[in-house]
Amino acid sequence: MELPSLSTLALTGTCLFVTYVIISWTLSFRKLQHIPGPTWAAWTSLWLIRRQLGGRVARDLASLSKKYGPIYRIAPNWVIVSDPAEVRRVWHVRGPWYRGQWYDMFKFDQPVDTIISLKDNAAHAAHRSKLLPGYSGREVDNLDTITNRRIGDFVALIEREYLSTDKDFRPMDLAEKAQFLTLDIISDLAIGKCFECLNEDRDTHGQITFVSGSVPLMVVMSIVPASFVLLQNPIARALLPTDKKEGVERMMALAQENAAKRYGPDRIEGARDMLGSFVAHGLPFTNAWLETFGQIGAGSDTTATAIRMTLFYLMNSPDSYHKLQREIDAAIERGGVSSPITSEEARQLPYLQAVIKEGLRIWPPVTGFMPKVCDTEEIVCGKRIPPGTNVCWEPISVLRNKGAFGEDAECFRPDRWIEEQSEDKRSTMERVQGFLWGTSSRWECLGKTIALIELNKVFVELLRRFDFSLVDPLKPFTTYDASLSIQSDMWVRVQRRE
Ligand code: HEM
Repeated sequence: MELPSLSTLALTGTCLFVTYVIISWTLSFRKLQHIPGPTWAAWTSLWLIRRQLGGRVARDLASLSKKYGPIYRIAPNWVIVSDPAEVRRVWHVRGPWYRGQWYDMFKFDQPVDTIISLKDNAAHAAHRSKLLPGYSGREVDNLDTITNRRIGDFVALIEREYLSTDKDFRPMDLAEKAQFLTLDIISDLAIGKCFECLNEDRDTHGQITFVSGSVPLMVVMSIVPASFVLLQNPIARALLPTDKKEGVERMMALAQENAAKRYGPDRIEGARDMLGSFVAHGLPFTNAWLETFGQIGAGSDTTATAIRMTLFYLMNSPDSYHKLQREIDAAIERGGVSSPITSEEARQLPYLQAVIKEGLRIWPPVTGFMPKVCDTEEIVCGKRIPPGTNVCWEPISVLRNKGAFGEDAECFRPDRWIEEQSEDKRSTMERVQGFLWGTSSRWECLGKTIALIELNKVFVELLRRFDFSLVDPLKPFTTYDASLSIQSDMWVRVQRRE
């Protein structure tokens, strides 16, 4: 029998491949065909990737929620939900949902999972129980002292370099300095070695450059799981730009060096810091260094966004700005505020608490899809959701929901948190705002205590001393939003207060 020629084999292979692609496309299209959404999103993930790379994905998806309603399709196997009650149900602590493959991007470099990449609910709960005592601050003595010291560095930097007067104009990039602050705090807490960004007034470890440069890659990785396999490949990794590799490898080496001091024959024992607590609860070496490495990512951009954007909205809302400043001044005058302010004192300032909640609500630092999947068929927003579908939240519409926050939900108005209202209304507001931390789910932010210590202190320490105004209100800052929203070039004029 004559063997088929090479060209016949190639043609047959191509035909089989094309048939396979068409069948799988059609099947995946039909799976969610009863759910509305943009046409291209039903056929290809490229629609979503393109939106993300465009750098305004959260705002784009919020506009589409207005068009398509509380649930719509954003990729062949993905839907997005903007009804707070349904988000709550999907995220419910005792519900059947678990994390989707999107979370694999937080596996970083290793086959070993981190708390943020763990998808199996039981494994996640077991791992979380080892981290919780450290994150909650119960077994850690230095959360306050480190935060105080680094906010002191921020104040000193402003005093040294960025105080403008009538005769001297010294603009400051608030976006950058806020991240210097959060990086200095989290590096000190996580690896016991402050990056000294504030003292040197520069991105000493290239972390900011690394994160902003890696976002496009992470976007693709999060939607197309096969790209992880590619990235783990040594040949593909060798092709990465050197500065990207150096940034991440340097950070990993620091995390490993620091963790190594807590294991082995000469180990430091009984340290009352975060790592000490993780070790005391039995975290093996590889998990320990990966968690500390992860903390730097999870804990710097997020809190920096909260600081920048809250100050930005305050600068644009003179009424709220002055109310907050008056509250701080009055508390100082009656001796209710130490220098620096303690967290306990800050919690006694109602307007400050309202400003923090509202700043986070109006511009949530984490806008990632955070998809959850289920092994059984479920009904969400009245639509049938087949097993294995990624169900994401749409943060902007959820956090600006008029039913929860009132007709002016789109406005930054801290007063809504202190106005008199029914218990019912108040608890709805608290519950929906809590989603920005993942509250009411099994995946609630572990760093919430740390972030709130920072937020409780930073606004008081800045506004008791300085006044801030935007240099160019018509071009206040640049933002790139592809799951994590990153702002830059927020130039402000800082003046010493009378
Ligand atoms: C304003 C600042 C912050 C916001 C808005 C925020 C938001 C979130 C959200 C929404 C999640 C849930 C993810 C999910 O559902 O899968 C999360 C998880 C997490 N966050 Fe934060 N975060 C902030 C600051 C921090 C800080 C400062 C740290 C570390 C020091 C941190 C560490 C973590 C960790 C470890 C998790 C994983 C929790 C788990 O899987 O059980 N976060 N965060």
